Amino acid sequence: MCGIIGITSRPGKVPESPAFIVRKGLERLEYRGYDSVGVASIVDYSIIVRKGKGKIKDVNRRKHLDRVPGYTIIGHTRWATHGRPSDVNAHPHIDCNGVIAVVHNGIIQNYLELREKLTKLGHKFRSETDTEVIAHLIEHFISEGLKPYDAFKKAIRSLKGSFALGVLISSEKDKIFFARKDSPLIIGLGDGYNFIASDIPAFLEYTRKVIIVHDFEVGYITPDSVHLENVLTGEVIDINKRIHVIDWTPDMAAKGGYPHFMLKEIHEQPRALKDTIHGLGVEVENAIKLIMNANRIFITAAGTSFHAGLVGDYLFNILAGYTSIPFIASEYSKYKNSVGEGDVLIAISQSGETIDTLMALRLFKKLGAKVIAISNVVGSAIPRESDVTVYTRAGPEIGVAATKTFTSQVMVLSWIAVKLAYYTGRIDETTYKSLLGDLHRVPELANKTLTLVEGETKLIGEEISDRHSVYYLGRGIGVPIALEGALKLKEIAYIHAEAYPAGESKHGPIALVEDGFPVIFIIVEDEMKKHILGNIEEMKARGAYTIGVVSDEDKEARKLLDRAITVPYIEPVFSPIIYIIPLQLLAYYTAVKKGYDPDKPRNLAKTVTVE
Ligand code: AGP
Repeated sequence: MCGIIGITSRPGKVPESPAFIVRKGLERLEYRGYDSVGVASIVDYSIIVRKGKGKIKDVNRRKHLDRVPGYTIIGHTRWATHGRPSDVNAHPHIDCNGVIAVVHNGIIQNYLELREKLTKLGHKFRSETDTEVIAHLIEHFISEGLKPYDAFKKAIRSLKGSFALGVLISSEKDKIFFARKDSPLIIGLGDGYNFIASDIPAFLEYTRKVIIVHDFEVGYITPDSVHLENVLTGEVIDINKRIHVIDWTPDMAAKGGYPHFMLKEIHEQPRALKDTIHGLGVEVENAIKLIMNANRIFITAAGTSFHAGLVGDYLFNILAGYTSIPFIASEYSKYKNSVGEGDVLIAISQSGETIDTLMALRLFKKLGAKVIAISNVVGSAIPRESDVTVYTRAGPEIGVAATKTFTSQVMVLSWIAVKLAYYTGRIDETTYKSLLGDLHRVPELANKTLTLVEGETKLIGEEISDRHSVYYLGRGIGVPIALEGALKLKEIAYIHAEAYPAGESKHGPIALVEDGFPVIFIIVEDEMKKHILGNIEEMKARGAYTIGVVSDEDKEARKLLDRAITVPYIEPVFSPIIYIIPLQLLAYYTAVKKGYDPDKPRNLAKTVTVE
């Protein structure tokens, strides 16, 4: 996830210089990423670029971004996805002759293929990013005789993946070209000036009149006009029908209108999942090669990432017939005498900096094992020290409670498990394609789930907010969901919450159950469901207040439960991504009801860097 902004204005129409406005806008987008930053401006029909690695404040001090001349300027704050943070990988990216500058948020899935073709045609690439191909592609189409805007549109039609783009072409001195697919882009309308940006706070100080750009829409802004059209059909859009006037405060705007980052990040999951799928490429194949050649597979992580690891462990067994050994990262020393060459460790960490996971990784490497990292932060310590890294593309997570990074990690592990199952002959091609199809549908199902469950989870969250203890029970793939649901409630609502395999509850935990004790069941549509139904009966018989997350195909559990939260049916092995969503929301609404700030729970830090 990155932040983009662009302004084009007539002289004297904005109260500060356009470069100053771009720098301020970038600071408001810094929540989207801040490992490098840059701007490009058109002056006298040529393009000036200033950019560098580091936070906006530091790069600005070194490179004076806010003193760049010109009235047509684009800017970018980066959260690296392809190529580690560096001066060269910072946006804007330019073509061979430096007459086209591009800022981009998203992932170009087919960039390797395009890069290869353009390299053969003589284009010289400077960076490791996926974005740079766009500048060269436009350059290529202009060299074939197309006018700049037509070349831009043709380039857009050649891209696969997700993008919000701002583009300058030096011959078009007061135009900013833009396009959107799957990444947010907003136009801000002023008097004698116009903006594009990834999010409204970037320009809120200067205008409240906005147009939300839709997928497959492209166009350009000048200081006095907006041209918008559908790139596939060529239909020109009447912008007057699309203008909204918003009434957000700057704080509301930074959180996209949500009261907390956690709620915003829960709602970002469909997008995060889609970007994660788009970003999966050769690294997955490399990871699978290591797994297939391994003597033993270990999985390690902490907290929420460990729960994702447990889902991975389940899927490796069930789908691919591989036994893995999951362990909590801080317990790494147990393996100091038993691990060796031929073993493979999968280390999962959203931040890539968690010390326990890093120490486990270092021990395994020292003992000769290979390491596969799954991380959300490019260039962080764990990826740097691993043999192969598969990145999730959830974007920066500000809330301390991990939400979108968990579901993105599970997506990566599910993807690996399905491929592993196919490559080792456990499933045939038809099943393989059907399972990958199911995974492709998950972002849409996550969207549907958010709409379906929000009201019910708020109600239940308010109901349980005065309880002191809650149990979460599941079976099979439901166990890691239960563990993750309980962790969310503990960490932000400060309610004692325990998760167990439902079968284990009779071996002790049930002794605590009395009238009104909340027990939350994870009811997945698999062969273990009949046993869960029995567990609901047992808990009811002892007076428990039974709540369940159930599929919309369920006919039995709903009748038994006091409260049912219905989610759309999903292939049972992929249920964690969908079933965890109501449990995240439940924890969120419980915390809010109790008056706590879910973004900053007490005693916790987002990244734990001390053992
Ligand atoms: C979960 O909500 C927590 N914030 C925590 O358990 C977290 O998942 C854990 O500290 C691991 O962090 P990592 O993924 O950055 O390594």
